[in-house]
Amino acid sequence: MIKYFFYTFVGLCFITISLSFTDFSSNKGLTSSIDSVSLEEVLIKLGDSPLLHQMKDFDEEKAKMGEDIIRDGFTKRNGKKSKRISKFFVCTDCHNLTREFDDLSSESPEKRLEYAKSHSIPFLQGSTFFGIYNRTKFYNGDYKKKYGELVDGARDSLDNAIQLCAEYCSSGRPMLDWELEAVKHYFKKNELLMKDLNLSEDLLERINQYQNATDSEKKELIGQIKKRYRQFYSATFLPTMDRDKRKYGEGGDAENGKAIYNKSCLHCHAYKRATNLSLDNGKLSGRMFVKNLENYSDKSLYQIIRWGTYAKTGRKQYMPLYTKEKMSDEQINDLVAYIKQISKK
Ligand code: HEC
Ligand code: HEC
Repeated sequence: MIKYFFYTFVGLCFITISLSFTDFSSNKGLTSSIDSVSLEEVLIKLGDSPLLHQMKDFDEEKAKMGEDIIRDGFTKRNGKKSKRISKFFVCTDCHNLTREFDDLSSESPEKRLEYAKSHSIPFLQGSTFFGIYNRTKFYNGDYKKKYGELVDGARDSLDNAIQLCAEYCSSGRPMLDWELEAVKHYFKKNELLMKDLNLSEDLLERINQYQNATDSEKKELIGQIKKRYRQFYSATFLPTMDRDKRKYGEGGDAENGKAIYNKSCLHCHAYKRATNLSLDNGKLSGRMFVKNLENYSDKSLYQIIRWGTYAKTGRKQYMPLYTKEKMSDEQINDLVAYIKQISKK
């Protein structure tokens, strides 16, 4: 009889322990522990289908090599320096590595600039690599216009999206298998955690109790979570603004324009960092732009921003365009207001 009680007791303890392990809260109190759980893990536990590029193992060493490749274009492997991905660019010329919005469901260029200002980060044509692991669609919207059929294979595949950008956006070469792996490990490291989504205590609590939820409640929770971050970034190409619609800086916010100029244009053009055109905050740069404002040419702000340039043969450098989501028409007007200001220095 005593033996019987003993075994029941051991059995119950076992069940309690295993339950507390599958629960996100374990024993540390609710929010603190679910906060550091990955978004991916939570979605899978709720029954969502896994990401196509799901990575089941993570290797810190590989992630470090991936970060080198992203920042510098090369890394060290077996004591040897690897070959650069591109002679012209590194990924961080066009992509940030950190968060770009307080609210991760937003893609508003105004909110993005606000965030860039308050966190001292660049304001670039490409979307951030922060949370890119959790996206499911790439080169969306009008990118098909620029890269044609190349985009078809990259729309749903992170691997192909990386390769498209290594070869075409950065005018380089496709990555070798180990390089691609390394970059993906870095992306995994930079994945979204529950705490990044700023969910309400209430919702977190419901997620934490997922084991008691019915299938339809789980589906509903997945929907709630997915509303709080972007699975993809939209991309709308705009034409060069018609001359009669241009406001030439009137009513524009020059302070905002200055931030755009410094955080975006100068990111590549200061000291000819990624290009032959050297720009600064002086009056010569200002005058060059003012002189060309009314034109339809590469030197007109209205055109260069919306079209960028195309790589010419013999010179594989080009300037990526800004979609509507990466720079609004109002922001261009702010930039023009600033350019006019410095031209009068
Ligand atoms: C000259 C600019 C430039 C460089 C350099 C560059 N990219 Fe991009 N990349 C872009 C643009 C523009 C897009 C368009 C879509 C977006 O990011 O929203 C893009 C998109 C991507 C996407 C898809 C993102 C999404 O959410 O749709 C991936 C992945 C990517 N790049 C990886 C890389 C990697 C890895 C490197 C470095 C080897 C790199 N890129 C270098 C400009 C660049
Ligand atoms: C990601 C890097 C990058 C950013 C950011 C960038 N540019 Fe460029 N830009 C380039 C490159 C590279 C070229 C050279 C293109 C070529 O040689 O075809 C260029 C060329 C230009 C040209 C000259 C076109 C010509 O006729 O030769 C102008 C003007 C220009 N950029 C303005 C800007 C302005 C204004 C901004 C900010 C709104 C900006 N750029 C942001 C990389 C960048």
